[in-house]
Amino acid sequence: MRVLVTGGCGFIGSHVARALVAAGHAVTNLDALTYASNPANVASIAAHPRYRFVEGNICDSALVRELVADVDVVINFAAETHVDRSLLDPGIFVRTDVEGVVSLLEAVRATRTARLVHMSTDEVFGSLAPGVEAEEEGQFAPTSPYSASKAAAELQVRAYAETYELPVTVLRSCNVYGPNQHIEKFIPLFITRALAGVPLPLYGDGLQEREWIHVDDIVAAVGLLLEHLPGAAGAHAIHIGSGERLPNRVVAEAICRLAGRDESLIQRVEDRPGHDRRYALNSRRLRSRGWRPAVRFEEGLERTVRWYAGNADAWAAAENPEFREYFARQYGERLGAV
Ligand code: TYD
Repeated sequence: MRVLVTGGCGFIGSHVARALVAAGHAVTNLDALTYASNPANVASIAAHPRYRFVEGNICDSALVRELVADVDVVINFAAETHVDRSLLDPGIFVRTDVEGVVSLLEAVRATRTARLVHMSTDEVFGSLAPGVEAEEEGQFAPTSPYSASKAAAELQVRAYAETYELPVTVLRSCNVYGPNQHIEKFIPLFITRALAGVPLPLYGDGLQEREWIHVDDIVAAVGLLLEHLPGAAGAHAIHIGSGERLPNRVVAEAICRLAGRDESLIQRVEDRPGHDRRYALNSRRLRSRGWRPAVRFEEGLERTVRWYAGNADAWAAAENPEFREYFARQYGERLGAV
């Protein structure tokens, strides 16, 4: 298949792009090279004959239309994804996550040959009560500018699927972790700081619950779904969840243990405003197609800690002046005040 992967220099996009090339597909990677992109993530396929890199933004309708005309499938991983940054600067989330998706939908509508697979998130459902799992047809209740932008994108997907009779696949994943994730996110931030022996800023009481899945399991799910893309018009939602739900404090303690640090490194800091307590996905639909998560959290976290410990070069570039400025804005008072 000829696949356009958007955001292919980012965390999940790069894992998928590499796997697709390895599986024999031809991949065009459209990436805007924002702060969250790292071309080194795709260095291993950069010279491959079935791989092409195009620097550009999914909001660039003319470019997107030209690229979409040449492929069978578009998988959209291009997004602003960090809740904390969406609280500091929501505008870019609307532009990339909503307008960018409309640009992709317009291109798919114009060509009518390429299928769209759109990556979304469990966060569109907002915070769930204990014991509750979000079903694919559950109601949206986003709470952060980030999750609101992803929910808005999904509404556009639904509108296009309905109005123009397009078959679109929407993937909603729980929290993903693994090698090459940007260090702003909880697990890599805590791992790299634990390795350096500096405080781990745990928001609020640390009892917020997240469902964690290793990026390899996402790659496997995407590979399986690509083989069975729906032919009927409509927005077909699929949840990719591991079922492994843990309070942040437990994850932070496990990271300390794996990094050989004392738990006293964990510092309780001022909570994120509007912090969702709990996410949980029902992923029966995907499991009924034969997919199972292969990486248990305990094993995946250990592998991930080992990866960050052994690949400082790969992520050190992210500790640039822009990140230091963000870190000071986000954590300066929080860490200073404790
Ligand atoms: P994050 O990786 O930002 O993902 P999301 O907010 O999209 O789930 O955060 C995961 C959890 O970890 C979330 O409950 C917020 C918490 N967290 C902290 O306690 N401290 C931090 O410094 C960060 C980045 C996150």
